[in-house]
Amino acid sequence: MPADPHQLFEAWFAEAKAGEPNDAGAMALATATPDGRPSVRMVLLKGHDERGFVFYTNSRSRKGEELAANGRAALLFHWKSLRRQVRIEGAVTPVGPLEADAYFATRSRDSQLGAWASDQSRPLVSREVFESRFAQLAAANEGKDVPRPPHWCGYRVAPERIEFWTDRPHRLHERRLFTRAGPGWTEGLLYP
Ligand SMILES: Cc1cc2nc3c(=O)[nH]c(=O)nc-3n(C[C@H](O)[C@H](O)[C@H](O)COP(=O)(O)O)c2cc1C
Repeated sequence: MPADPHQLFEAWFAEAKAGEPNDAGAMALATATPDGRPSVRMVLLKGHDERGFVFYTNSRSRKGEELAANGRAALLFHWKSLRRQVRIEGAVTPVGPLEADAYFATRSRDSQLGAWASDQSRPLVSREVFESRFAQLAAANEGKDVPRPPHWCGYRVAPERIEFWTDRPHRLHERRLFTRAGPGWTEGLLYP
């Protein structure tokens, strides 16, 4: 068994991508206001390496505002078919503009236009208002590349704690906890 949590995550993620019916990269992202009011929602994992786990969103959204005020987050993967979960906690920093541009360029044109059309997390009077904004943007950008909106960006969660949970019979589950100790990791077990 690998003693490096990133290698172990990579192995589990590969199994999840092979086995889960869809969205193996779907993860719950928990953020909180500075006075400790939590909120949680799903996002998609779009990159991971030793530096951390990356997702993309609108920085003016509720999560974006919470992260600007309190740059810490928790992530949770639950791969139901594998009966496994991974819990990740750490500090969050925006990814650089070039990295965000490169990812934005891989998105479908409609997704790119949608990033401009959506005031994510703001009240919307009707679905028609959103659709008409989208149609106007599509017409205005006909034949042009769609640039990344400045408020659409990536965030990297740099893990300080990663726990790998495996289902075992009779709820005698296995919990492997990795905590960052300087440049390396310390591994231990937790009672289920
Ligand atoms: C499976 C799944 C994946 C999602 N992925 C993303 C994502 O990568 N980025 C994003 O901004 N919203 C994503 N969403 C929508 C968010 O859950 C959420 O509705 C939205 O980001 C607004 O959240 P907020 O108001 O807390 O900022 C996803 C939803 C689901 C169900």
